[in-house]
Amino acid sequence: MTAVPLSMVVNGKPVTAEVEPRTLLVAFIREHLRLTGTHIGCDTAQCGACTIHMNGQAIKSCSIVALQAADAEILTIEGLSAEGAPLHPMQQAFSKHHALQCGYCTPGMVMTALDIVKEYPAPTREEVAHGLHGNLCRCTGYRNIIDAVMSGAKAMSEPGHESMNKEP
Ligand code: FES
Ligand code: FES
Repeated sequence: MTAVPLSMVVNGKPVTAEVEPRTLLVAFIREHLRLTGTHIGCDTAQCGACTIHMNGQAIKSCSIVALQAADAEILTIEGLSAEGAPLHPMQQAFSKHHALQCGYCTPGMVMTALDIVKEYPAPTREEVAHGLHGNLCRCTGYRNIIDAVMSGAKAMSEPGHESMNKEP
């Protein structure tokens, strides 16, 4: 199949490549860009492990082809904090609340959590649980994940963290 030129901005950096039209966005992110924090759990838009932000909204990156993200702004888990800098408050909250075991679901959970906080800056437990509906975790039983999102949302609302509510 003929490769097609593609450009987008990923974690604030312009990216250009040639991709086959059938390449999924998640495959482009992982295999071409080597950003392997975005995981593949099911490939059928069920599990949420591949969640990223496209133009400021959480999407499952296995559910579209890379060409559908042409000229888009993409944010992956790697874009949440600069190398060597402290983790994003939402990542810190996941760590503090033991919201992961194997960690496979965690990048997708964090990216979805940030989408929830964008919509509900001070979410209720119900709003968090509802917002995480499309993200599956086989290990934790979800309670600690909801605790972490509540705590991360609170940390993000504190002075000095306002910028964390915006896409980089
Ligand atoms: S890999 Fe995309 S939703 Fe499971
Ligand atoms: S921590 Fe293992 S799948 Fe969620």
